[in-house]
Amino acid sequence: MRAKASDMHSKDCVKVAVRVRPFNKRERDAGSRCIVSMVSSSITIQDPCESQSRRIFCFDYAYWSHSSFAQDRGGLYVPEEPGGRYADQNSVFQDLGEGILENALQGYNATLLAYGQTGSGKSYSMVGYGPNKGLVPKLCDRLFQAIRENQDTRQCQVFFSMLEIYNEQVVDLLSRASRTPGGLRVREEQQRGFYVEGLRTVPCDSAAQVEQLMEQGTRTRTTAATNMNANSSRSHMLIILQLKQIFSKESITKQSNINLVDLAGSERQRSSGSEADRLKEGTAINLSLTTLGNVISSLADVAVGKKVVHIPYRDSVLTKLLQSALGGNSRTVMIATLSPADICYEESLSTLRYAERAKRIQNRAVVNESPTERLVKELKAENARLLQRLSRLGQEGRRANDETKELRQLLTHNELQIRAIQTLWEQHLQEALKDWEQQYANITQERRMMQMHPYILNINEDAQLSGVVKLFIQEGDWDIGLCDSSPRSISIKGLGIQERHAVFRNEQRRVTLTPLAGSKVIINGNAVFQTETELQHLDRLILGSNCTYLFVGYPSERGGDDWSRYDYDYFQSELAAAEGIHLGESSAESSQTDPSLLAVFYDYIKLMPMVAEANQMSQELNKGVQFKLEIKNLALSDSKGHDLQKEIVVRVTSLGRKQVWMWSKAKLVNRKFLMEEAYQQHQVETSGDNRVEALSTAAVPRDKDPFWDPVEPVLLGTAHLWLQSLAFRIPLEEQLEVLGSEGTEEAILQAQLVPCTSTGLPMGEDDILIDPSELLGRRLDFQLVLEQCCGLRWIREARNRGVQIGFRLFNCSQPLYSPAVWHNVNPLLDHRVHFASLHTSQRLLDYLQSSAVVLELWGLQEGCTDLISCLEGVRMTTEGIFIIEEAGPTDTALVDSAERSCSVRALQQDLEELKSVNASLRKENQSLREQLNAARNGGESVRGRSVRPSCDAEFARALKVFYHSMTSVKGQLQRLRRHRPSEESDLLGLRLFVDEQSRLLRDFSEQLEQSVSTLKQDVAAIVRRKRERSGIWS
Ligand SMILES: Nc1ncnc2c1ncn2[C@@H]1O[C@H](COP(=O)(O)OP(=O)(O)OP(=O)(O)O)[C@@H](O)[C@H]1O
Ligand SMILES: [Mg+2]
Repeated sequence: MRAKASDMHSKDCVKVAVRVRPFNKRERDAGSRCIVSMVSSSITIQDPCESQSRRIFCFDYAYWSHSSFAQDRGGLYVPEEPGGRYADQNSVFQDLGEGILENALQGYNATLLAYGQTGSGKSYSMVGYGPNKGLVPKLCDRLFQAIRENQDTRQCQVFFSMLEIYNEQVVDLLSRASRTPGGLRVREEQQRGFYVEGLRTVPCDSAAQVEQLMEQGTRTRTTAATNMNANSSRSHMLIILQLKQIFSKESITKQSNINLVDLAGSERQRSSGSEADRLKEGTAINLSLTTLGNVISSLADVAVGKKVVHIPYRDSVLTKLLQSALGGNSRTVMIATLSPADICYEESLSTLRYAERAKRIQNRAVVNESPTERLVKELKAENARLLQRLSRLGQEGRRANDETKELRQLLTHNELQIRAIQTLWEQHLQEALKDWEQQYANITQERRMMQMHPYILNINEDAQLSGVVKLFIQEGDWDIGLCDSSPRSISIKGLGIQERHAVFRNEQRRVTLTPLAGSKVIINGNAVFQTETELQHLDRLILGSNCTYLFVGYPSERGGDDWSRYDYDYFQSELAAAEGIHLGESSAESSQTDPSLLAVFYDYIKLMPMVAEANQMSQELNKGVQFKLEIKNLALSDSKGHDLQKEIVVRVTSLGRKQVWMWSKAKLVNRKFLMEEAYQQHQVETSGDNRVEALSTAAVPRDKDPFWDPVEPVLLGTAHLWLQSLAFRIPLEEQLEVLGSEGTEEAILQAQLVPCTSTGLPMGEDDILIDPSELLGRRLDFQLVLEQCCGLRWIREARNRGVQIGFRLFNCSQPLYSPAVWHNVNPLLDHRVHFASLHTSQRLLDYLQSSAVVLELWGLQEGCTDLISCLEGVRMTTEGIFIIEEAGPTDTALVDSAERSCSVRALQQDLEELKSVNASLRKENQSLREQLNAARNGGESVRGRSVRPSCDAEFARALKVFYHSMTSVKGQLQRLRRHRPSEESDLLGLRLFVDEQSRLLRDFSEQLEQSVSTLKQDVAAIVRRKRERSGIWS
């Protein structure tokens, strides 16, 4: 390629546009707030959690497509009022598309990239939906229009290619040959740079032709996604338009490549903290996207004058192909799409930051002159020279026969070459036209069929790919399944689809579906087994693990209904509802739904199909593991028992050895991607001739196997032991229900909290405090005793298991664990831990009065190592007492110095002795008093009591009773919080649930009232007695 001299040093910054879309259903359900505002081309994004925090960005263009729009009769989204602020597809095209076209016509390479999180509107902007055509079709329209307008001055040739990059493999979306295993190769040539070897380029001469090629490409993308079980949101789609303009008069040819790139969803892989996946390091979920980010960052650094040694273009397929678009010979535009909803804040902010970096990139675009055209020019020049020489030879009358012959031969050869170059285009075009006519005939045929027969329509997670595949159900019986040999079969591929999966019967304008033995068929959310079911227009079908189709009845049944509401989420929500997981009825129309609940619901329906697919892959690959979604209530691990968020976790069970793993959502998403890779590999290996070798290669080394993990202890459930009694030095003995994440009872745990002396002697009633603040600045000792676990469900299910209890107190950073006990359903734990606060602070007192120690029940399984208390950073005395409270100045010295600790021990011993002397004296005193009373009253009972304890002790006892009852009240409250309708809840089930809920509430309030009234009575009695006594003794 040669640059025009004048362009050699010109720099072009990447132009960046940002577009915000309308809220989607999920955001509307959540009553989302719009946190993005635009003024001219500057954008402000507001942190929904911090009203003071907002960021302002400035771009080349900003498009408000969020509100103030209406749909016209033709389905076009247009501004509500003429000249309104809504940016429709036309206005976006006018700014961005026209610029690209202009550049291309001038002979520059041009690139348009769409970047943004999944569902943010990349494809809407690039390709468009229905009548709302996006940049690509509009650009093609205008391109061919420009070609027609300029046909007097130049001859134009347009070549169209469409490819997809999925998991670093290039798939030709227009290829008619079957898919090349491993994808097409990306090669590099000095002149051309990187290119895809063997990519089909189709000559086109009309926008209709291009549109149809795009349709064909989308269809290939859809079938490839289902066949290979790949998620299209993770793939990048590239359309390459090559434009050649031959200006015969000026004898110049301009050639430009237009790259139109719809990138994969940009979701950041949120780190899952301590749950980081062992297989995460080696895999980049989307290497191309990560590398693109790195390239953009490096180029942005270069632009601000930082020294950058290396731009990592070569690290991924996408960046290789976009090398000229980024920092090279291209005029590049990026459209960053985002949702303005508060729940998307982090993703949107990250998109804006990304776009800001991209804005700094500087390219050096040049007008391109193609070598082929130069050749024609050179050949023509040579011919002219040859002709001149020939005529000179003739004039000179020299009949050098040989020389003339040679010159004439050369001339003819050159002429032929010129003609060959020029006719090649015509030929290609003719071939493409034939092809196009054939395709056109197919499409016309499909449209005719749609008007005659019922059919099923694919619904994809990516709305762009929905409705692309139509399978017609003509009169008679039709097998549907993998089979494609039988003439009366409808062939589909996908996970869990059997050779013969089900039978459609179309008889007397009624269509029924009968699943065949062993195949999975779900109609409108409900599984159907081998029974014939009549299908109604717009019924939802799920075949196999996740092939989703919408049934479209005979034209007479169709009416003018809007099918768009039956999207992928609809299918999954319906399925979740059948499992008992749904958003409340009222939530659909109100904006009251708790956002965290909504997030859990959407996580659930997002993960549900992934789990179904993972199960199917596990089965087909013989992995022997099963996946199941669970909703984990985080209140279980909150020390205040607050009903925090809920979270989705995946329970993984090995079928043979009954081992259990718990995966986080992030881990499943990561693993699912690796499973897909393994599955695709397996499919390639088992297809055709490779079938024999398959078994040997299917075995992945364990440490790389996405289905396998080393066995680890599993958190089975938790119990809360409330600490408030400790603040009064009242001992507590409890039978605690250990509840699993879904509210199931995992065991009963007997535990105690024993206030004690520093030597571990239990304190008595006389040590009970009325006012906890008496503890301030003083030492507090207590023991946590784990006595026994009863009825362990974990062990009942499989005897080769064990358990441990883990707990964490106050400011301990690491949990402590009881020793492991194995094979016993009711094991004795007999574990006692002594804690001490040397200098009790208000903070500790507050903690004791408001918190519980969360006792975690950990399940151990064969092959896993016990959980060990990590004592690093834990402060302990030489006697093994855990110090939970920062020591006061004097206490620090005591702990630090061994000598002083000895003297303290001695002092403490003295104190203990004194205390016991004191206690025996008290006893003696008491019996003396009794004798005295007996003597005074002559055996007459003193108001029914022979002992007159001090008011303080009475009060302490009353408090003890009260706190005991409060513990059970708190337990009841926990139960209430976790109480959920059962999975099969229909209307009746829900009624029963409501009844049960009211009963629990009633019990709760009764218990609470009773506790408070007992306390009141006790206090009143104490006060009364005190008054009476003061009357007697005064
Ligand atoms: N500007 C807009 N106006 C109206 N609807 C829009 C707009 N942008 C996006 N949408 C709608 O939002 C949905 C998701 O958009 P789209 O398919 O373009 O997302 P995407 O970014 O391509 O997602 P993915 O990464 O999954 O491919 C579509 O139903 C689309 O119709
Ligand atoms: Mg898309």
